[in-house]
Amino acid sequence: MKAVELKKDVYWVGALDWAMRDFHGYTTPLGTSYNNYLVLDDEVTLIDTVKYDFADITIKNIVEVVDPSKIKNVIINHIENDHVTSLDRIMSLAPDATIYITDKGKKGLERFFNLDRWKIKVVKSGDTLCTGKKTFTFIETPMLHWPDSMITYLAGENILFTQDAFGQHIASNSRFDDDFMAEYSESALDDAVIDYYANILMPFGPVIKAKIAEIEKLGLVVDIVAPDHGIIWRKDPGKVFRMYLDIANGKANLSIAVIYDTMWQSTEKMIVPITEGIRDEGVGVRVIKLRATPMSVAIKEFWKSRGALIGSPTLNNITFPTVAEFMTHLRGLRPKNRLVGAFGSYGWGGGAVKEIYDEFKRMTLDTVEPGLQILYKPSPEDEKSCFQFGKEFAQKVAEYHQKF
Ligand code: FEO
Repeated sequence: MKAVELKKDVYWVGALDWAMRDFHGYTTPLGTSYNNYLVLDDEVTLIDTVKYDFADITIKNIVEVVDPSKIKNVIINHIENDHVTSLDRIMSLAPDATIYITDKGKKGLERFFNLDRWKIKVVKSGDTLCTGKKTFTFIETPMLHWPDSMITYLAGENILFTQDAFGQHIASNSRFDDDFMAEYSESALDDAVIDYYANILMPFGPVIKAKIAEIEKLGLVVDIVAPDHGIIWRKDPGKVFRMYLDIANGKANLSIAVIYDTMWQSTEKMIVPITEGIRDEGVGVRVIKLRATPMSVAIKEFWKSRGALIGSPTLNNITFPTVAEFMTHLRGLRPKNRLVGAFGSYGWGGGAVKEIYDEFKRMTLDTVEPGLQILYKPSPEDEKSCFQFGKEFAQKVAEYHQKF
């Protein structure tokens, strides 16, 4: 895709990665994009670069707009590999440019590149860069989502360049929210935002709330939110802030995600009566079999629902490996405001359900105990117990949901 103008003299010059399906372990069925931006003024400024494989594409897009040797400022909002690893290619074309970066960003950048070759200016919140008629303001956003992260505001044009924050993993011919919604749908965009938040930003809810409050306190007028991945927000840039605040404040559907795996279909046979019990209480339910579903989808579905039941057979006295993998992903994402329980089948002494509850406790999640364990294979009586287990869990989730 060629350079795309956001506002006069402000261009997207990034790259679409249509084929990306495994983004450091996170499944990206829609691919992704690496967005970076070029701003023309008396001095030309580039905001972020792209993943190294796509350096030629961003350079081609830049050349379409301006001679790269005219770039005088390179703002690095975030140093993760997908945004910074083509920096040396860019700097070889613009050797006189000054890099603007946070202190932690510079320390990280030293691990990627020999910085002695380049002019570098370390910036902190409130610092500005005047390029002639335009002024950029830097706002540090540590742990949103790396220690180095910052966002950059372009006054006058009222554009907030937000690096990973407010992005989505989407490769699309649409660059803007309104175009994407016309091409696909609003719900497809909403789903991509939730997917991205659940799998990348879930641990950082308090930081997100504080930073959005800080931006509001600064009174910045924001016409466009320009993240480093996916669609650019221009139709209703406040929408993605509202979505983030809702999610960070614990918003979820009154529904239950039943996430499980199975060895000999005994745990799987528990699913139907459990879900019937849940539905009997009028609560929605979504079933995810881990071996049939990308991990990131399971995480997203966990995050969308107020409650979750995790099902695992016991294998060698411990949790089934795919379920253990899910629990490890979940623990790293530090979920909150969810009510959880566990169930499963076993043949000898059991162990998986206890281990899952131990993991819940390490995550400090709210639990309904005890879980439900079935010996070998559910009998008709066991199926009644499963129904009752699902029903009682749904009652508790409905009560718990009232708190939010
Ligand atoms: Fe898109 Fe944190 O990198």
